[in-house]
Amino acid sequence: MKKGNTPPWIDNIPQYVPGKSKEEIARSYGIKNPIKMASNENPLGASPMALEAIKKYQYLVNLYPDPLAYELRKTAAQTFNCRPKQIIAGNGSDEIIDLICRAYIEPEDEVIIPQYTFSYYEIASLSCGAHVVHVPMQGLDIDIDAIKDTIGNRTKIVFIANPNNPTGIYLNKDRLSQLISTISSNVLVVIDEAYSPFVRADNFVSGVKLINTNARIIVLVTLSKSHGLAGLRVGFGIAQQSILEPIYRIKPPFNISTLAQKAGAAALKDTEFLQDTLANTWKGLDYLYTQFKELGLEFVPSQTNFVLVKIGKYARDVYKELLKRGIIVRYMASYGLDEYIRVSVGLSHENTSFMTALKEILTR
Ligand SMILES: Cc1ncc(COP(=O)(O)O)c(C=O)c1O
Repeated sequence: MKKGNTPPWIDNIPQYVPGKSKEEIARSYGIKNPIKMASNENPLGASPMALEAIKKYQYLVNLYPDPLAYELRKTAAQTFNCRPKQIIAGNGSDEIIDLICRAYIEPEDEVIIPQYTFSYYEIASLSCGAHVVHVPMQGLDIDIDAIKDTIGNRTKIVFIANPNNPTGIYLNKDRLSQLISTISSNVLVVIDEAYSPFVRADNFVSGVKLINTNARIIVLVTLSKSHGLAGLRVGFGIAQQSILEPIYRIKPPFNISTLAQKAGAAALKDTEFLQDTLANTWKGLDYLYTQFKELGLEFVPSQTNFVLVKIGKYARDVYKELLKRGIIVRYMASYGLDEYIRVSVGLSHENTSFMTALKEILTR
């Protein structure tokens, strides 16, 4: 079908740039076991309890899944301390972002997004005909006042990733509350907590604590990173029931497979795997910080499972040299940060291989 048959707002959507896959790098450079540190996945693998559940329930795959994902939502409600009715489950939190946009945006509405953040907010908003406004940041930090000043009559949604991807920076309890209090009650505030399990700061508050008093907050949670289920696709939206109601109306009936529902519920109960994941992440972050300091590289202290590091004007070349050595990180030009790479924390030996390669490239 020729261009022009789609609505004009679809034609201009930038394509999402994913991290390169291991298979692609193995093929292109003839490398046996590339190391992927590009998509903030869980280097420990998946929760063993989730894998058990997949084996146990595989006989169910000839039947359609539970459209309301009741068991999964019930377990999630216990984990996140809310009611099952305050949760909608999705095929990854990407699907919830999509559904929120489809349920709430009318063409020409405005959606507000910080300058450097997860790119799918823009794609999903544009696909509904929204006008996306990128609010400048203060350096790499979210500028609450600038967001407040940007909100206008047509603003429908403000997206905030807390902590933010790709900067790794978070809004503490006071700044988050301040931001929410400045946003008028007819604007939805989507607080994406994809990385909140990794937060070490003690003045962080989950948006879930705020939903009962705020009928405009939707919190997003994912099991892709902390629970190792990126390939299975399980995410949640948590909000007051009235906010979720239109989203439930447009949700595809069988949006989460049975095995994803079973594995997701099991993973949420697997506290040991989560503890191991956090220990590996924090140890890895501390190692990377020390190494970056030794190399004199500027980096952004992170509350997530990745670090943004400034390489300078040769960042693209360094990224390519790393690829040649079988180490896949993310070059940040598509996020507007062309002097930076983002590296996800790996296993100890992967972090060491990355640093050895980086040192070698930078000191050539
Ligand atoms: C901030 C943020 N939100 C959402 C997602 C998507 O998560 P999911 O795998 O649940 O779709 C990501 C994935 O990288 C992310 O970084």
